[in-house]
Amino acid sequence: MRIDIITLFPEMFQGPFSESIIKRAVNKNLAEIHLHQLRDYATDKHQRVDDYAFSGGAGMVMMIEPVDRCISALKEKRTYDQVIYLSPDGILLNQSVSNRLSLSQNLILLCGHYKGIDERIRQHLVTMEISIGDYVLSGGELAAAVLTDSIIRLIPGVLSDETSALSDSFQDGLVSPPVYTRPRVYKGWEVPEILLCGDDKKIEEWKLHQAIERTAARRPELLKDDK
Ligand code: ADE
Repeated sequence: MRIDIITLFPEMFQGPFSESIIKRAVNKNLAEIHLHQLRDYATDKHQRVDDYAFSGGAGMVMMIEPVDRCISALKEKRTYDQVIYLSPDGILLNQSVSNRLSLSQNLILLCGHYKGIDERIRQHLVTMEISIGDYVLSGGELAAAVLTDSIIRLIPGVLSDETSALSDSFQDGLVSPPVYTRPRVYKGWEVPEILLCGDDKKIEEWKLHQAIERTAARRPELLKDDK
């Protein structure tokens, strides 16, 4: 999978993309991530990418031309499954959205800034809009990093034990059951006896029961049919 990220702040991705799972996926050639500085696609000598809103109002608006030039240059080289704009008014990211996107070959992620982007970008160039939660970030970069992580870890071969993505919270509509490691007793706090019994079938039943109970207690809306 190839992910092209269009941003004014490519450095913001250096940390998250140079560690752990994403780094491993890139090193194993299972994912390619390309960062594009939007300013490189500006047409004037000041590399201007934003301008005042028609009709006034506070804040600058990202201009269509640099964005169009960047997206067009990418599309000349390959076809894209989606051009995704990260925005607080997009569809809410959840596991099924990530699952679907993980089947893509090529994705463009567009990070907005300032007061927003010219609406014509959304109307004519963007094919999908995603929010990572009902709060406003300073820009789309952190959201794009979250989305990239949630997609890339689902690509077969990225996680060393493939079943571990399948057993993630939300994959079966449930949150994960609790997990424990050594020591067996710490300050008198004990690991549940059943996990030490050696009976795999019983342990699996216990885990499922825990996952259902936890989901009911913490995220009851996940158990409703009309999700
Ligand atoms: N840009 C600003 N806030 C955002 C959010 N919550 N999700 C995605 N992109 C954003």
